[in-house]
Amino acid sequence: MATKARNLLESLNSAEASAIERIQAVYGDDRQEREIQLNRLRYLVEKFIEHFGPDEFLEIYRAPGRVNLIGEHTDYNGLPVMPIAINRDFLCAASPRADGVVHVFNTDRQFPDFMFPATEFPKPSEIGNWSNYVKAGFQGICEDGPRFDIDIKQFKGCNLLFDGNIPSSAGLSSSSALVVVSALALLGAHGKQIAKHELAQILARAEHFVGTQGGGMDQTVSLLGEKDHALKIDFNPFGYSHVPIPPEVRVVVANSLVTAAKTGDARFAYNCRVVECRTAVALLNRGLAERGKVIRMLGDFVPAELGLDEKQLDMLAEKAIPKGPLTAAEIARRLNLPREEFLNVYCRLRTGEILQPPQKGLEVWKRYRHVISEGRRVEMAARALQSGDVEKVGKLMVASHFSCRDDYEISCETLDALVETARDAGALGSRLTGAGFGGCTVSMVRKEQTEELINKFKANYYDDFLACKEPELRKSIENFEQVVFSVQPVEGADRLL
Ligand code: GLA
Repeated sequence: MATKARNLLESLNSAEASAIERIQAVYGDDRQEREIQLNRLRYLVEKFIEHFGPDEFLEIYRAPGRVNLIGEHTDYNGLPVMPIAINRDFLCAASPRADGVVHVFNTDRQFPDFMFPATEFPKPSEIGNWSNYVKAGFQGICEDGPRFDIDIKQFKGCNLLFDGNIPSSAGLSSSSALVVVSALALLGAHGKQIAKHELAQILARAEHFVGTQGGGMDQTVSLLGEKDHALKIDFNPFGYSHVPIPPEVRVVVANSLVTAAKTGDARFAYNCRVVECRTAVALLNRGLAERGKVIRMLGDFVPAELGLDEKQLDMLAEKAIPKGPLTAAEIARRLNLPREEFLNVYCRLRTGEILQPPQKGLEVWKRYRHVISEGRRVEMAARALQSGDVEKVGKLMVASHFSCRDDYEISCETLDALVETARDAGALGSRLTGAGFGGCTVSMVRKEQTEELINKFKANYYDDFLACKEPELRKSIENFEQVVFSVQPVEGADRLL
C-alpha cells in the first residue's frame, strides 16, 4: 500500500519500528549504517514533498550497484560471473499521475528534470544524458510488457524522484541500478510486476539502448543479489545460485578516480572487445567445421557442449585463431567473405552503427584466451568460495587481474597500482572490477586486516601514487570514505517502503 508523503516522513522522523525493520532487513543491523540510510530516506521524502506536495501517495523503490568478484567480460560471451550487490544504491520515490506523463527529477541538481509520455516508446536523448537510463528501463517494459499482459497504452503516468549514492563511471554499475530502479518504479506506479529473473534479462537487452553491448551481469545481480552472498550467474543457459561470503572476510572497493565513462572512448573500447569475441567465434567455427560442430558464442566452446576436454579445445583454438592483431581484410580472407561483409555482419552494433576496427587490427587471440580462461576461473572461484577456501579465491582474483591487464587489455596504470598496493598489504586477492579502463578495484581481505588495507590504500595510492601522477584527482577527494570502503553484500532491488 502506498503511503501519503507526509505520513511516511513522520514515520521516518520518529524512526517507527516498521520503517526501521525494513531498513535493517536490507542494509543490516549496523547502527551507523541504519542512521545513514534513515537520513537518506528522510531527505528523499522531504525533497519529494517540495516537488509534489505532502498529500501524494508514494512508494520507494531501491536498486543496488554491484561489485564483481570475478568473471570480467564473460557475461556477453555466455560464460559465468560472480558479483555481489552492494549497500550503495539508487532510491526512487514514485507516485501516480493522471495526465499520461512521466515527470522525472533527481535530488542531485546536476541531473536536469525531464518528462516523457507514459504511453509511447520513449525517444532517446543524446548519448551521455542521464534520462536515457530511465528511458531504457521504460523501453524494456514497452518491448516485453505484452508478454506479461502489460499494455503501456493504459499507463497513466507518474512522478519519479531519484537519489543515488553509487559513484558514477566507477565500474560499480550505477547506470544499471538506475535502469533497474526506473523499471521497478514505473511498473509499481502502474500496479504491475514482472518476475525478477525475467526482468533481469529484459533490462539487460534494454540497456543496449544506451550504447554499450553489455551482458546481463549488472541488471541480474542488482535484482537477484542476496544479503551476505555473492551471486554466481550463468548465461548459457541463464541461471543463478547464491554463494555465501565467509564471515571471516571483507570485500573492499577502492576507486582509482580515473573515470570509466561508458559513453566515450571506453564505449568504443568495450564494443571493440565484443566484436573481437564474435570474430573469435567465427574463426573457431572454421576449425570446428570438420567435426560438424557450430558454436554461437564463446560460452559454447566448453567441454560440456562439444564433448572435447579443455586440452583438446585449447589445441583446436591454437590452430584456428592466429596470434597477433588481425586486420579486417585478413579476417575476411580467413572467413572467405568480402571485407565489407565482415564489417557489416561482425562489426555491427545493436544501435545499427558499424564499429570501425582500430588501425592496428583486432586482437582476437588474446581476447579469446582471456574469456575462456576467465570462465574457468569463475567456476573454480565459485567452488572455492562455497567451500570457504578464501586463499584460493584470492589467487584466482589476482590471476583474473593479470588476464584482464595482459590479454583483454582493459586495465591501466592506476588500477595496476591499486592492485599492487592491496597485494603488498596482504590482501587475499585484488583485481580491477567492471568494464575496466579506470573505475574501481575489488579486494578480498581477512576481516581483521580491513583497516590496515584501507590505510595502505590511503598512504600508498591516494597520498603517494595519485598525488604524484594526478594531483588534481587527489585534491578532489573530500572524504576518503567515498573513495575506499568496505561493502556489504545486500539483497537485490525491490520496493523498500
Ligand atoms: C560492464 C557491463 C557488464 C559486463 C562488465 C564487464 O559492466 O555492463 O555486462 O560485461 O562490463 O565484465
